[in-house]
Amino acid sequence: MISREQNELMTRIGPGTPAGKLLRRYWQPVALVDEMKDERPVKAVRLFSENLVLYKTNSGYGLMQRHCPHRGADLAYGRIEADGLRCSFHGWKFDGGGKCVETPAEPEGSRLCEHIKTVSYPVVEKSGILFAYLGEGAAPAFPAFDCFVAPDAYTFAFKGYWDCNWLQALEVGIDPAHASWLHKYFEDEDTAGSYGKQFRGVPSDSDLPISKVLREYDRPEIRVERAEFGMRLQTLRKISDAQTHIRVTNILFPQAFVIPMNAEMTITQFHVPVDDTGCYWYSIFTSFGGPVDKQTMREQRLRTYPAPDYKPIHGRHDGWGFDADEQKSKTFTGMGFDINIHDQFACESQGVIADRTKENLGSTDKGIVLYRRMLLDFIKKNEAGQLTVNSEFSGPPTIDGIGPTEKIDEYWKSADEKRRRQSKWAA
Ligand code: FES
Ligand SMILES: [Fe+2]
Repeated sequence: MISREQNELMTRIGPGTPAGKLLRRYWQPVALVDEMKDERPVKAVRLFSENLVLYKTNSGYGLMQRHCPHRGADLAYGRIEADGLRCSFHGWKFDGGGKCVETPAEPEGSRLCEHIKTVSYPVVEKSGILFAYLGEGAAPAFPAFDCFVAPDAYTFAFKGYWDCNWLQALEVGIDPAHASWLHKYFEDEDTAGSYGKQFRGVPSDSDLPISKVLREYDRPEIRVERAEFGMRLQTLRKISDAQTHIRVTNILFPQAFVIPMNAEMTITQFHVPVDDTGCYWYSIFTSFGGPVDKQTMREQRLRTYPAPDYKPIHGRHDGWGFDADEQKSKTFTGMGFDINIHDQFACESQGVIADRTKENLGSTDKGIVLYRRMLLDFIKKNEAGQLTVNSEFSGPPTIDGIGPTEKIDEYWKSADEKRRRQSKWAA
């Protein structure tokens, strides 16, 4: 049972809040590289309730406070130059590290610049996403997770906005039972046309469509355990005495989950607060097979999450596109075929910050229970100055496959090894 105080503690992420301080100790997605390809690479961003401006110079990316430290004009409308960003009010200029380098209206020889302090954060590019470090002290190393070590041609990144707190958005990814319900399709598509789509392909070592497995075996056994990098979940659907479908999914603490998309691709999804009541998901699709067709995958997703804001076309304003006829015959939700919209409905309709004091958790929520315990524990350790952020991780195995019921544990481990061995980059 979550108390009101615990709910506040876990969800509030502004500067100085305990959860905000904890999450700031990890690299956080701030934008897609695709968003910075314009002729004028300057973008206003809001992250963890901070208003910032992201820009690109010759020396890389800069991320600094959005309001000019002189008299507060909006730097998102500044003039981008090869080596910095210049405020359009009095021309003060800032380099890629957010350092003031010119105050051109001041008298010749002025040293005012040297005393100007701005809020600025380091930014690095990884697998199509720009990550920022908003924490105090030195940033941790990047873990060698598959999504970060796969070469560029084998990953594709995308994002989308949800109008709710980050924690309920993350929790949908630790709830393996919902896939049999929220994402239920009454008919299976030809799996040949499943490229780039979640829950439309076939599991490893099988020719059963995933949509059929989820639909027909809807009361899975769920196993959860803590892992060094966060948590591992195993979701078992017994197909017959001889065969079991298994999904091995993971939490990369604190804010990402890794799930299989199909036999060849995984999805690593980060849930990043914009502020207490809004968040973006950022996904990295990682292929262990051939290179990714980025253009097709981007086009598929832009239909429901259009640029430049990646805000969904459906939402509270139109009941997430609900169609009663479709609910009778085609989908469980009546909200179309894009699983991101289903998940969006599930998260947003809980309210902007879910009231966890009113929940009645079931056995399918055991991953969520374990995660919340970890989160509260990490918050406490961080507040006490006792948290060391570890980055020595790789993998982790993330599998959707059908194997022998009696040896299912050996099956998923060997399926992971086999896929790595056959991969061009993961061996
Ligand atoms: S407000 Fe930016 S230079 Fe004056
Ligand atoms: Fe989902």
